[in-house]
Amino acid sequence: MNTDKQTMVWDLFVRIFHWLLVVFFFLAYATGDGKGPLHRYIGTLVLLLVMARIYWGFFGSKYALFKNFMCAPRKAIAYVKTLCTGTPPHYTGHNPAAAWMILFLLTGSLILGASGFLSCTNKGGQAWLDLGRTFSLTGTAYADPSGKKLHGDRYTSRKHAAKEEDEVESFWGEFHETAATLMLSLACLHIIGVLLSSRMHHENLTKSMITGYKAEQATKEL
Ligand code: HEM
Ligand code: HEM
Repeated sequence: MNTDKQTMVWDLFVRIFHWLLVVFFFLAYATGDGKGPLHRYIGTLVLLLVMARIYWGFFGSKYALFKNFMCAPRKAIAYVKTLCTGTPPHYTGHNPAAAWMILFLLTGSLILGASGFLSCTNKGGQAWLDLGRTFSLTGTAYADPSGKKLHGDRYTSRKHAAKEEDEVESFWGEFHETAATLMLSLACLHIIGVLLSSRMHHENLTKSMITGYKAEQATKEL
């Protein structure tokens, strides 16, 4: 039941944020096993983008505000049930299921980026701002990389600390890899959701995310 009336739903910030996130997310994914610093720079951009979006979720425009689209989980479950019966109500902004998916995508990106920092290592000059080391449990135990000027107990304890640090880094490396795979699955689910919802409501949501406009329909609030 489309009418000709168009509403501006996604402001310029949200649209730029979204498409940059898509590009940087897939670039970060594609450069994940490279040896150079490129992956860490791109991953850091993903983190900065998501932080900017969180700010916008509190101080941005009407449809971007979390308080205007976040809802209780039962509302999202009820919405998914209406999807199954083929009678989902139309929302001008994010529908309740999309709202929860967005929450998962934003927090997932934060966790993924943070675990990337924690899995960074100094070896081979691979650290980015050295934050992986700053956050790691054993701190500056590597200050003398050779460790050979030290003798006796101190040498042994440094070797021990270095081993512990390697274990911490490889734990975060594994965690980061798993988180990246989970995020990719979430992103695929998100894309499927967008396509399904577009089909059911006879509207092109991807185009709306480019132009910012949605056609008005017999609609639920927001
Ligand atoms: C080419 C693939 C993609 C398309 C066509 C697409 C499309 C869309 C659309 C239409 C919306 C609005 C959905 C609604 O309210 O129902 C949206 C929102 C969103 N998408 Fe995507 N998306 C894609 C990929 C991704 C990826 C890979 C990510 C994250 C890694 C992502 C994260 C988000 C986020 C966080 C929002 C909320 C936007 C906001 O309110 O700021 N999207 N997307
Ligand atoms: C947020 C977007 C990010 C995505 C999608 C992403 C994705 C990936 C992927 C797919 C891998 C490859 C795992 C493998 O197959 O070996 C990887 C590895 C890695 N990433 Fe990220 N990453 C992101 C952010 C970051 C950030 C912000 C940093 C650090 C500043 C980082 C540092 C690393 C490091 C050091 C590795 C190698 C880990 C290891 O195997 O020990 N990543 N990442």
